[in-house]
Amino acid sequence: MTNFPHDFLWGGATAANQIEGAYDQGGKGLSIQDVLPQGALFPPVEQPTPDNLKLEAIDFYHRYAEDIALFAEMGFSAYRFSIAWSRIFPQGDEESPNEEGLAFYDRVLDELEKHGIEPVVTISHYETPLHLAREYDGWTDRRMIGFFERYAQVLFERYGSRVRYWLTFNEINAILHMPLQAGGILTPKDQLRSQDLYQAIHHELVASARVTRLAHQMMPEAQVGCMIIAMPTYPLSPRPDDVLAALGAEQANYAFGDVHCRGEYPGYFLRVLREQGVELEITDDDRQDLRNTVDFVSFSYYMSACETADESQRIPGRGNVIGGVPNPHLEASEWGWQIDPVGLRIALNDYWDRWQKPLFIVENGLGAQDRLVEVDGVMTVEDDYRIAYLNDHLYQVGQALEDGVDVLGYTSWGCIDLISASTAQISKRYGFIYVDRNEDGSGTFQRYRKKSFHWYKETIAAGGANL
Ligand code: BG6
Repeated sequence: MTNFPHDFLWGGATAANQIEGAYDQGGKGLSIQDVLPQGALFPPVEQPTPDNLKLEAIDFYHRYAEDIALFAEMGFSAYRFSIAWSRIFPQGDEESPNEEGLAFYDRVLDELEKHGIEPVVTISHYETPLHLAREYDGWTDRRMIGFFERYAQVLFERYGSRVRYWLTFNEINAILHMPLQAGGILTPKDQLRSQDLYQAIHHELVASARVTRLAHQMMPEAQVGCMIIAMPTYPLSPRPDDVLAALGAEQANYAFGDVHCRGEYPGYFLRVLREQGVELEITDDDRQDLRNTVDFVSFSYYMSACETADESQRIPGRGNVIGGVPNPHLEASEWGWQIDPVGLRIALNDYWDRWQKPLFIVENGLGAQDRLVEVDGVMTVEDDYRIAYLNDHLYQVGQALEDGVDVLGYTSWGCIDLISASTAQISKRYGFIYVDRNEDGSGTFQRYRKKSFHWYKETIAAGGANL
């Protein structure tokens, strides 16, 4: 297949808190991730504890040059990474930024420039400064909009001439399922009132739109995207009630893209608010601000799900961490995430038809346990399962291109092994590059090329012709 455009962005993606480590170096403040030793699905602790693998992660903070050189060796034309908010504003609500934090990302950008790799920067990837969570209960507080804007302004001033692609909030729709991880909200989910949750969503949407406007004002060449979790949801049966239930699940995610692309709340979303007795505080300025729509839509894609109106059948599988029920026709990863390459083509067609904005797949990949072995005197991982997963998904991207969908690029998730977000494990590996670190924290941190490293290199060189 050779239908990938010449300027298609091929690369990989990571997030600061999952790779950098150095959680207390360079003037960095604590982020919510520093007190989530077991990942997003478990409650936070009071102080950072040694069992939290993210505190050291894979030590990208000190090894970024070596890692970026490996990305370059694979032929990456783009690298998506996030800036740790608490490196730039350690508390989040200060007036001026931390120079040492800013200088770190200068160095990362220097390395990328050296290798001709386009940076794709996520401004907020699940790493709200802890102080903002403790003092303001995260995005439930309207003042967060101002803090975020100030942070973004500093980034645009500093890196605006070097970074063209910006993403505002990682997986913004995840706040519905993980209010702490995605919204910095410390109130436990089961005690969080719908009123406060939806008000927090509104604040994030306004902040995203205001920062989009700021980016366009400060950097005329900038391309700003929203970022959502794509999880195509099929009806469990052809019964109309099941079809409607599946549509409802899709709408919960569409709403975030709709606001970002159309500049106002869709009717079905307002109905959900009415039915939950939520009365959003929306100012006239908010309404104007929301009109600042994005240039493209980016999304993560790992799995699809099913939905049903029949309560007796609504039994979530192990992998349905953000909703839905298992699809009886699909296999699953070791973590129960159902594998559905065709679902990626469906999402691409659906989003393109709906929003008519270029799409960017900024996360996709297989979390699996890998075994380091010696082959012909070289240490490697024979990860044919990962190659099959990525090949089948990229093949469907090619099909979507053939369908006429405008796709900017593909950055596979965790291009180098990192600490997982939901379970904070290093043993859930996604990378083309194996990092010698173990669940108990031991390891040399040495990097090894997996078999998939060579496959991805060939795929990029061939422009997808080998899929
Ligand atoms: C996405 C996140 O939800 O999925 C990443 O943006 C995360 O931060 C990725 O790592 C994979 O999830 P997990 O839980 O396997 O790390």
